Amino acid sequence: MIEAVLAVEDLSISFGGLHAVDAVTFTAERNRITTVIGPNGAGKSTLFNLISGALTPVRGHVRLDGIDVTGAPPNRMLSAGLARSFQITSLFFGLTVAENLRLAAQRLEPNLRLWLPTGRSRRARERVRSLLDQFGLADKAQYPAGALSHGEQRRLEIAVALAAEPKVLLLDEPTQGMSHGDTELTATYVRKLAQSVTVLLIEHDIGLVMNLSDKVVVMNQGRKIAEGPPAVVRADPAVQSAYFGHA
Ligand SMILES: Nc1ncnc2c1ncn2[C@@H]1O[C@H](COP(=O)(O)OP(=O)(O)O)[C@@H](O)[C@H]1O
Ligand SMILES: [Mg+2]
Repeated sequence: MIEAVLAVEDLSISFGGLHAVDAVTFTAERNRITTVIGPNGAGKSTLFNLISGALTPVRGHVRLDGIDVTGAPPNRMLSAGLARSFQITSLFFGLTVAENLRLAAQRLEPNLRLWLPTGRSRRARERVRSLLDQFGLADKAQYPAGALSHGEQRRLEIAVALAAEPKVLLLDEPTQGMSHGDTELTATYVRKLAQSVTVLLIEHDIGLVMNLSDKVVVMNQGRKIAEGPPAVVRADPAVQSAYFGHA
């Protein structure tokens, strides 16, 4: 059954007179990939900041599995099941790949910490092991994160965001600055992710968007101008003129 796990309703914020995100409404369905596209400055990253609670909307709601989490702080978002990876890298470069993952995985079951240290650390350890395998980083586990290639660092960021076992994962331009090969590889990982997590993606590589997405949400000047399956959205005249630059 297809079911909305994330529901964004009438979400709005202004900076001075600029309606950066203006009455945006859409849903993301469970274990599907929903991609937000639009020209530079359309409001995509601001939309993610509103969804993740980094910014508080002046109007509208964010619901996770029916629970209102609008403007909640990051730790509450994480326990409600929403994680994000940042467009700007947020890794500890001096720590190893495995240590970066372990730190993130240790957020699992924080309340049991004092009671079940061994069981908890075993669970975190297994989580680290499985993420290393899942993202092709097992042979780099003991490298400092700062010694990885750009593509590997971006993959590690996604793995770090997944370590706390979120229901919904927000990825803001995960392929930004990547080589073609790394972009393809990342697409493969993102596709696999959707087996266990609902993915909300911002991506500018339109070929990738068409290939990867179950649903595309198109933004222009703060507003949603289209939402639907990739092929339908691509054929939409409003999208053609706003995004692809011709009618
Ligand atoms: N903190 C802020 N203060 C003022 N203006 C902002 C802020 N964040 C974003 N903006 C503006 O809001 C608009 C949308 O930005 P953004 O969400 O980053 O677009 P996108 O990610 O689609 O490229 C842009 O015009 C940007 O300059
Ligand atoms: Mg952006």
